[in-house]
Amino acid sequence: MNPSLSKFILAHTPSSILHPTPTMTTTIPLNTGSSIPALGLGTWQSSPGEVKAAVIHAIESGYRHIDCAFCYQNEDEVGEALKEVLARGIVKREELFITSKLWCTFHTRVEEGLKKSLELLGLEYLDLYLMHWPVPMNPKGNHPLFPKLPDGSRDLDLTTSHIQTWKNLESLVSSPSPKVKAIGVANYSVKYLTKLLEHATIVPAVNQIENHPYLPQQEVVDFCREKGIHVTAYSPFGSTGSPMFKDEVVNEVAEKHGVKAGTVLLSYHLARNSSVLAKSVTPSRIDENRKLIALDEDDMSKLEGISKTKGLTRFVYPPFGVDCGFPDKPGGVDLSG
Ligand SMILES: NC(=O)c1ccc[n+]([C@@H]2O[C@H](COP(=O)([O-])OP(=O)(O)OC[C@H]3O[C@@H](n4cnc5c(N)ncnc54)[C@H](OP(=O)(O)O)[C@@H]3O)[C@@H](O)[C@H]2O)c1
Repeated sequence: MNPSLSKFILAHTPSSILHPTPTMTTTIPLNTGSSIPALGLGTWQSSPGEVKAAVIHAIESGYRHIDCAFCYQNEDEVGEALKEVLARGIVKREELFITSKLWCTFHTRVEEGLKKSLELLGLEYLDLYLMHWPVPMNPKGNHPLFPKLPDGSRDLDLTTSHIQTWKNLESLVSSPSPKVKAIGVANYSVKYLTKLLEHATIVPAVNQIENHPYLPQQEVVDFCREKGIHVTAYSPFGSTGSPMFKDEVVNEVAEKHGVKAGTVLLSYHLARNSSVLAKSVTPSRIDENRKLIALDEDDMSKLEGISKTKGLTRFVYPPFGVDCGFPDKPGGVDLSG
């Protein structure tokens, strides 16, 4: 199209069309042909005794995407919640998007890891199964989830590569009756993704990463976009205790739109075409977190400016002594392969 004509059309297109207001039912396409709901409920650190009620409340109030993991040690209670909402007819299974993750001590036991999560969740299939970290740990160590060596360091499995783990995940999808609709990764830097893609037959559908204005990870987001990998943002509020609610710039943008800081922190990801996971076990907050708005270029440049002035802050550390290729946290054993 003639560039001046396209400029003219853009200038005369209402901003509500260019930037439609996202809602919690907005979905974003995946490279599998399926799609992922833009807003998901996180369940990390949701205690037993709290998480069942939280998941039921979230689904009753419209959430359709629940983010789980074997390592969170609460998939049994999430499963009770799912059983209840499905039995009460609040949703059908196919209306839900359920993610789980293969823990580091299961890299050599992918089928077993999946089977355990499916059993705990009481599901026939997952919508998405992620490699939780590209860091294999000793499956026969002194702890089933967090094995340590006698010197207190992490008991890594240096004989297994995350690339082999990915190959094993690929075979879950290509099996005759697959129990996962899509596979993906989490906590992958550009360095690890580049290595993975050299060997992958299936391009990961998703890379789930810590992501917020204090850690924009622009290079990972751009790389994923170029390769057709959807980004899901975790810890949008800064994780435990939600420290990012206090940020002045976030509050300034919130004030401009007459919304709370949380709405800005969640909507930031939709403006980047990412989905986002918000964890809460508090019913009023689960409700509050449903509100999303369309942020404009000015808002986004203010939010992008935060890490440029304050530097980068990672709230969720890889507790492995491994160099995961994060530019802000170099050092440790290189397992990128
Ligand atoms: N792939 C990975 O390695 C990985 C790592 C970390 C997280 N995740 C996923 O991402 C999810 C979200 O990240 P996250 O749990 O680290 O942290 P988060 O969602 O950034 O923050 C959770 C904290 O914010 C509080 N909160 C929630 N809504 C609020 C509101 N409207 N007002 C005030 N406080 C509010 C919660 O308190 P209450 O619960 O007490 O209400 C909790 O303390 C996790 O639950 C998990 O599913 C994945």
